[in-house]
Amino acid sequence: MTTDTPAPILEVENLTKIFGSLVANDQVSFSVQKGHVHCLLGENGAGKSTLAKCIYGASRPDGGTIKFKGKEAAFSSPRDAIRQGIGMVHQHFVLAEPMNAVENIVVGEEGAGTLLHIEAERAKIQGLCQQYGLNLDLNVPVSRLSVGQQQWVEILKALYVGVDLLLLDEPTAVLTPQEVESLFSIVRKMVESGISVILITHKMHEVMTISDRVTILRKGKVIDTVNTKDNTRASLAKMLVGREFDFVVHKEKVARGEPVLEIQDVSALRDNRSQALKDVSLTVHRGEILGLAGVSGNGQPELFDALVGVRPLQSGRLRLNGIDITNMSPSEIVHRGLASVPQDRLKQGLIPEFTIEENLILGIHGVQPYCKRSVLNFKEIKEFARKSIAAFEIKASGPEQIVHQLSGGNLQKVILAREISHPIQAMVVSSPTRGLDINATYYVYGRFLELLKSGVGILMISEDLDEIFNVSDRIAVIYNGRIMGVFEAGEVSREKIGLLMAGVEEDDHS
Ligand SMILES: Nc1ncnc2c1ncn2[C@@H]1O[C@H](COP(=O)(O)OP(=O)(O)O)[C@@H](O)[C@H]1O
Ligand SMILES: [Mg+2]
Repeated sequence: MTTDTPAPILEVENLTKIFGSLVANDQVSFSVQKGHVHCLLGENGAGKSTLAKCIYGASRPDGGTIKFKGKEAAFSSPRDAIRQGIGMVHQHFVLAEPMNAVENIVVGEEGAGTLLHIEAERAKIQGLCQQYGLNLDLNVPVSRLSVGQQQWVEILKALYVGVDLLLLDEPTAVLTPQEVESLFSIVRKMVESGISVILITHKMHEVMTISDRVTILRKGKVIDTVNTKDNTRASLAKMLVGREFDFVVHKEKVARGEPVLEIQDVSALRDNRSQALKDVSLTVHRGEILGLAGVSGNGQPELFDALVGVRPLQSGRLRLNGIDITNMSPSEIVHRGLASVPQDRLKQGLIPEFTIEENLILGIHGVQPYCKRSVLNFKEIKEFARKSIAAFEIKASGPEQIVHQLSGGNLQKVILAREISHPIQAMVVSSPTRGLDINATYYVYGRFLELLKSGVGILMISEDLDEIFNVSDRIAVIYNGRIMGVFEAGEVSREKIGLLMAGVEEDDHS
């Protein structure tokens, strides 16, 4: 370390955290300078959240030391950490939904509970909103605020208490690009007023945009801590995955063929009977990926469910390869050639306590050669499983391994192997690479491209704009259950898509 760097506010030394046989944090050491934005960069499962929880007192390390403001700290609880000046905003917010922002912020503080007290604190919170440029309605239940605004409430909680260090765990995962920008402007203002920020992310461009320094974690270990300005996206990626990485999806031009999956004026309800989809129309052609962008909760899971036959339509029609599949059973739809990869792989796509080979024939178990005269042919099934494991490079002990023991990337490969190992017409995928490491991600994209070449059409639902722009031929946006527009991927900007994701229509810049 050079001598002109300011004093560290946080020093982590040899921190180790073990879950059973898994070393989630392995002798992690790094320090955060006062007034810096310090990123923790690592792929899913690298140990970032575990590390943050140890720092914040929500989890007990098994070894190592944490020094805060020069003094050794062992916070016994998050409450203890906050009292001493460390706050954290979690991936999943912990707000009381029926209460308004002021009540959420003040509750839990000493002296809280009386209405008078809450009213007295309103002015202080208003002052913070002004200081940070937050246009926030303090009077409505937080359930009525947008996701971005709910995140502001979480941040305000920490600012209200007056923390010196704030940890943000993957704060951008739930935000539109515009919301990310306003979050980053809040972060910059915090730093100006002397607060240090640890921002956890797996996105290289966020590190490049916002941070002063970055610690790269891989499989629980620190690879390095470096100054951001001395690095590039490529140099960070190299540390992240351990080798040179080529970000480009090498996409050969595949001719767009005839429509293969037609969604026509589809309306449907959520489980709670609220309107999920309103007159949704989309057409997926052979040889193309139609990306469906949108912030989570805007009707995407209901559209997926409607397509695979598990959610009834109020109105509208679905056609696959010209055949009306509206109201067909899920298995009939599969047999007609619609493959699907759900977002929640373990809940919807696989049976966790079944083996790989059993999961590989789910839905196709009635088909030859796996089944003859209603008798399962175990030899064929095992052979299919062996071939799939080899072809998809599934890391497993063998066909008989139970799937819930597999990592996210390998679960995804099991589903893909099953879904595309028989002839298909079209495929609907939801967040296909969420939780996958970079290698597995590009492997999945490679498989998609092969499918396109064989004339399959793919509807790709994703909340990740990088993914949408990386692989889509056309891009549609869904907001509040409606399609906001459909564009050629090369002819539309991220800003435009971002605005539509937030529900802002053409010429409506309010
Ligand atoms: N409470 C827990 N019990 C067992 N294993 C856990 C627990 N929390 C996290 N892990 C494991 O520790 C590893 C690191 O997880 P995590 O810190 O959440 O990673 P990241 O935030 O970088 O995605 C993962 O393999 C995860 O499955
Ligand atoms: Mg995490």
